[in-house]
Amino acid sequence: MTRHAYRAALLHALEDPCRAPAEAAWAYHEDGLLVVEDGHVAAFGAYTDVFPALPPDTPVTPFPGKLITPGFVDAHIHYPQTDVVAAWGSQLLDWLNTHTFPAEQAFADRAHADEAAAFFLDELLRNGTTSALVFGTVHKTSVDALFEAALARDMRLIAGKVLMDRHAPAGLCDTVETGRADTEALIRAWRGRGRLGYAVTPRFAVTSSDAQLAMAGQVAAAHPDVLIHTHMSENLEEIARVGELFPDARDYLDVYARHGLVGPRSVFAHCVHSTDDALRRMQRAGAASAFCPSSNLLLGSGLFSLKQACDCGVTVGLGTDIGAGASFSLLHMMGEAYKVGQLGGEVLDPLHAFYLATLAGARALKIDDQVGNLAPGKEADFLVLDLAATPLLARRTGAARTIAEQLFVLSILGDDRAIERTYLAGRLAHSRDRTPPSRALYP
Ligand code: GUN
Ligand code: ZN
Repeated sequence: MTRHAYRAALLHALEDPCRAPAEAAWAYHEDGLLVVEDGHVAAFGAYTDVFPALPPDTPVTPFPGKLITPGFVDAHIHYPQTDVVAAWGSQLLDWLNTHTFPAEQAFADRAHADEAAAFFLDELLRNGTTSALVFGTVHKTSVDALFEAALARDMRLIAGKVLMDRHAPAGLCDTVETGRADTEALIRAWRGRGRLGYAVTPRFAVTSSDAQLAMAGQVAAAHPDVLIHTHMSENLEEIARVGELFPDARDYLDVYARHGLVGPRSVFAHCVHSTDDALRRMQRAGAASAFCPSSNLLLGSGLFSLKQACDCGVTVGLGTDIGAGASFSLLHMMGEAYKVGQLGGEVLDPLHAFYLATLAGARALKIDDQVGNLAPGKEADFLVLDLAATPLLARRTGAARTIAEQLFVLSILGDDRAIERTYLAGRLAHSRDRTPPSRALYP
């Protein structure tokens, strides 16, 4: 048995601040001790409470002045879109055709997918993201490449092959039957390996026929352990197009619901323009939404209302939506979520933003029994945050009086530079100060 303890300030979320009193929603210890045994959390608490019970031979690593938190959970991201980050000048449908579809076609090549998967996962870890719900491309091999790389890093990651059988370049279209066969083959090949999970992944209603959506619903029903992951109600032009393509549907959600794609295992990216009625139906079904503020701002999609989703009782995680979103950092997303709130007349509390980036994401992905906070028994995916990573961060966090103020400064000024270390299941997976410069930049 291996046991190791880490001494620092500790913070994790315990409950949804929409539904719990503030004092029950999170736990913070200014001088805390985290004990990890065989990759799982054995204890989390105040140093003075936990240390006396620690077996005397346990090594203790002190991180003075640092903050330990759970790893971040990215509730919606596309690994093949790393190469379209920061594309200028368009909104969703034009952006897909101009930038995204050409980049995704390169994933027919396994060597390209392997290189992109390794870069992507290392970028997640550099940014403190330890779990994510990930879109591949239409190519089965894109998901093989990603799962192989995630297994090698022992990440808790959920991904799926994109299903799209129309309104896209021929090289990116599957059919009902090839989509079914590839999805079934991936579930069979990867089920139960490491900490991986599968998501049935129709891209969105525009690019899947009714027959393909029906197939997606059948595959999801046949495999109770898989998620359903798609986009919904992101952009007004997209919503109008879905209305034209599915004139009999009550609304966008109904397009999915009619095929058994709305349930407790569903995650819908965006929901920027969802009505109260649609959100309430999602809540009744147990479906979750992924709020992607950077993407929504860059593509000009609109302002998601966290208050509306909270009032309707929908579980909301936080997503980068790389490559429409412009950063891999969930810290940065917390800041972007705050700015979206400001534009919409809502003020996001920093601890609520932290909940979105950790436990809420784990809940949306149905992995909160394993990760999302550092409760004893959970997998020890955690971060060591450097509140003084830059001179300005040091100056501003140094003047902060509360953990909420510190978190807010981190969310506005922080990014990968603030992630000093990332641990996966108790094992050091990224150390900012030890990572050599990228080989691509310095051959
Ligand atoms: N809707 C359908 N596909 C996509 C995508 O790749 N990115 C975003 N942001 N929205 C989508
Ligand atoms: Zn997306």
